Amino acid sequence: MESPILSPSILAADHTRLANDVRAVEGLGVQWLHIDIMDGHFVPNLSFGPKTVADLRSKSDLFFDVHLMIDNPREFIEPFADAGANLISIHTEPEYNVSETLKRIRELGAQAGIVINPDTNVADALPFLSQVDLVLAMTVQPGFGGQSFTEPVLDKVRELDHIRQSKSLEFRIQVDGGINTETAKLCRRAGVDTFVAGTAFFRAPDRAAFLKEIQSMD
Ligand code: DX5
Ligand code: ZN
Repeated sequence: MESPILSPSILAADHTRLANDVRAVEGLGVQWLHIDIMDGHFVPNLSFGPKTVADLRSKSDLFFDVHLMIDNPREFIEPFADAGANLISIHTEPEYNVSETLKRIRELGAQAGIVINPDTNVADALPFLSQVDLVLAMTVQPGFGGQSFTEPVLDKVRELDHIRQSKSLEFRIQVDGGINTETAKLCRRAGVDTFVAGTAFFRAPDRAAFLKEIQSMD
């Protein structure tokens, strides 16, 4: 299995001083940064737009893991790729051409991710697994940080890990929502290699220790 990667979610950072928080995170040796994009329709909340991503890009060398929680992903692929996203993840649930959008993400030079909500079956992501670099199994209903981890999602992670191995595919498996050092261990045992953490990481008394605990999981 791939080494564990921590992708701190800046939804939980101080939005009036994002650049400072991002620099602090980068200084710890984190490699990825999770940036949640919400449109107030697909999820009942609003967060950041392409300009936030572009402005952070000019101040950071982190790998930008951009999670689009929006109704019309196809219309926003270009702005986020231009803004400097390294990975763009899109949900299966809205009505749009998922395959064509994933293809376009890669044409624009970014990695492509597919996301399934807690109520969405792995079957819905199956047609796209050969087109993606990452599959994100949401461990909360998307929209807000600070929610509790939903353990039944681990069955889907095991299913994805099994498919990955049996078909010799190489996508990473990510979880997002309610991840702390304890829930991360459960996820790791199920086959997860990429861990989004917002609240638990940004509120950790010792962020370096949090990072080390994630990175040192077998
Ligand atoms: C939720 C977002 C998450 C969120 C996770 O819709 O996709 O990335 O920031 O926050 P925590 O880690 O606080 O559950
Ligand atoms: Zn997210």
